[in-house]
Amino acid sequence: MTSIPNVTINMAMTLDGKVSRPDGRWYGLSSRNDKKRMDEIRSKADVLILGKNSILNDDPVIHLRYVENGNDPRPVILLRSGTLPEDKKVFRFSKQPPLIFCLNGNYSAVRDNLCSVAEIILLPGEDLSPLEVLKHLYEMGYREALLEGGPSLNDSFFRLDLISRIYVTIVPFLIGQNDLPSITGGHKQYFEFDRKKWELKSHDAIENEVFLMYEKIK
Ligand SMILES: NC(=O)c1ccc[n+]([C@@H]2O[C@H](COP(=O)([O-])OP(=O)(O)OC[C@H]3O[C@@H](n4cnc5c(N)ncnc54)[C@H](OP(=O)(O)O)[C@@H]3O)[C@@H](O)[C@H]2O)c1
Repeated sequence: MTSIPNVTINMAMTLDGKVSRPDGRWYGLSSRNDKKRMDEIRSKADVLILGKNSILNDDPVIHLRYVENGNDPRPVILLRSGTLPEDKKVFRFSKQPPLIFCLNGNYSAVRDNLCSVAEIILLPGEDLSPLEVLKHLYEMGYREALLEGGPSLNDSFFRLDLISRIYVTIVPFLIGQNDLPSITGGHKQYFEFDRKKWELKSHDAIENEVFLMYEKIK
């Protein structure tokens, strides 16, 4: 059997299930409580997998700010094409150099641009398979992965049934625009999506937000 790390996902969504504003970014809709919760979840992970568009659009803070003496998970970025600007926070403030997985087509661009701020791993083949990335991470000794992708990256993990735990924060806003993404999704439904697969393990409300945690039923 293939060994891979446990993969947990953490996302915040509005009451109407959106994870991005109409401008394609996520800011100003989660409270300090959610950020604290996010850091607590991050502090339990060995690696933090981030989406390329999320880094480009949101430039997220990746170091822990609300957990004392916690270990920052190592950032992991999947790049199938192109590269990223080296002035993003993930490269400037990470305690450990981010790990970047890329392909033959963009390896030299990534290396030229980011070799001084990241460790770069070239994977064979035409597409970056999340399963191959996870196998690699396991071989490197990482056992707990936290995925905070955008919905596209999340979808590529859900589609291969690689996620075992979901944290969702519901924030008290309705955006209303119908073409905004949810926590995950591509062009097709998931296989047997209507079979009960997820069990609610915890739920709590703090002020005006709800924090949910589901685990996959084995
Ligand atoms: N509410 C929340 O909690 C939350 C959290 C995170 C993000 N977000 C929102 O999500 C938005 C971005 O989401 P997004 O879906 O556009 O992008 P994303 O998931 O952040 O990044 C997707 C990109 O990652 C690259 N990638 C590499 N390997 C991949 C793979 N195996 N599968 C899928 N993508 C892969 C692709 O670019 P290449 O093909 O060019 O490499 C792809 O276009 C952000 O702007 C942010 O506002 C919200």
